[in-house]
Amino acid sequence: MLEMLIGAQWGDEGKGKWIDIFGENSDIVARFQGGNNAGHTLVLDDKTIILHQIPSGILRSGTISAILSGVVIDPVGLLDEIASISEYVDVSNQIFWISERAHVITPFHIWMDGCNEDKTLNPIGTTKRGIGPAYMDKASRLGLTAVDLLDPDRIESWVQSRCKESSVFSQFYLKNKDKWEEFFEASLQVARFVCDAEARIRANLKNGSSDRILMEGAQGTLLDMNHGTYPYVTSSNPTSGGAVASLGVDPRKVGKIYGIAKAYTTRVGEGPFPTECFDQYGKILRTNGREFGATTGRPRRCGWYDAVAMRYACEVNGFDFILLNKLDVLSGLDELRICVGYEHSQYGRLENFPSLSSTLENCKPVYRYLGGWREDIKGCTDYSDLPEAAKKYIDEIVEFTGVPVKYVGTGPGRSDFLDPKSGMH
Ligand code: IMP
Repeated sequence: MLEMLIGAQWGDEGKGKWIDIFGENSDIVARFQGGNNAGHTLVLDDKTIILHQIPSGILRSGTISAILSGVVIDPVGLLDEIASISEYVDVSNQIFWISERAHVITPFHIWMDGCNEDKTLNPIGTTKRGIGPAYMDKASRLGLTAVDLLDPDRIESWVQSRCKESSVFSQFYLKNKDKWEEFFEASLQVARFVCDAEARIRANLKNGSSDRILMEGAQGTLLDMNHGTYPYVTSSNPTSGGAVASLGVDPRKVGKIYGIAKAYTTRVGEGPFPTECFDQYGKILRTNGREFGATTGRPRRCGWYDAVAMRYACEVNGFDFILLNKLDVLSGLDELRICVGYEHSQYGRLENFPSLSSTLENCKPVYRYLGGWREDIKGCTDYSDLPEAAKKYIDEIVEFTGVPVKYVGTGPGRSDFLDPKSGMH
């Protein structure tokens, strides 16, 4: 059984928590795109763990973790991450596969990402982790793949040929020998995880086994290179189609697709964001929701729930269910708003999410206003305990998007959620 958990907004929807919860019943958890630009936050026994590259399934013993072909891996960052979670899990005791086809982020890519952002007149606000340049090399057919890490001579010959082709590369290489040494050392250590991960997962599916395979997305639909707010996007496809392409699988094998969304909206980096709040509501959402980047620590831009963008994400991904996260953050707000349309300065009322970022930039949100609730619902696990205003808020979201809400998140912990249908979980 192949299932997917996909970010429905601009990332940071709280995917880590849901991947951890769903991971309990999963045999394999596989990351399918992005790299250490992601930061998946999990709270275990009051301890906060942030994973950047390693699939969140790593914290469940018996669950296989996989990184697939669509991912770019940073070997130095990966070793740091393994060390950072060593008090919770010994990764050498877990089954961890890295696809031979995944591409590798080198010190050059990280440096290039910083240079590009600092030099351009139109920065994207990237995480400066080398993601874009690594995918650029992949698309240019110049990349270093994980299978190359199995043979130190192949890494060396890749570096030498890049030095010959580019004086910028060779100058960077010669001036930063210490960074490259660290990279070579880390690459040799990471090589032990490299295998044909996709073939292993496909074999598992083919044998008609009842194993549950969970595809873990990073970032979100509106940061998708094809379907997001280009050029203010990441360099991969965080959508369900991206997951299929990364695994290389018959799309008809895909089972349930879950879209994860916060009960409000956030964005980091540049780019259009029609429901962004510049008033006290934005500050309250940021403070109550602890909206600071898990990777860069940057304050996130905060705003109201955008149901138009959400309906678009449902169409792009084919969500079967929505996991509506962080509803508890809205407690105490005297008023709530849901964006149900856009008013464009020139084209008038728009009902659908536009394809051009410049169009979205000139849109003002059309809101439906709802009453808030005072009660603290943090940790609430029973739907019947929710205030009527919170139930109404969920109903509005379901009504507008037409996709049912499977679970509602009411706090950061593993058990802080409720099922709006059965009232139980
Ligand atoms: P990059 O992925 O580092 O190249 O950054 C491109 C854009 O995606 C920037 O706006 C980043 O802030 C955004 N981005 C990348 N990763 C994440 C994430 O995990 N959460 C939210 N935004 C992200």
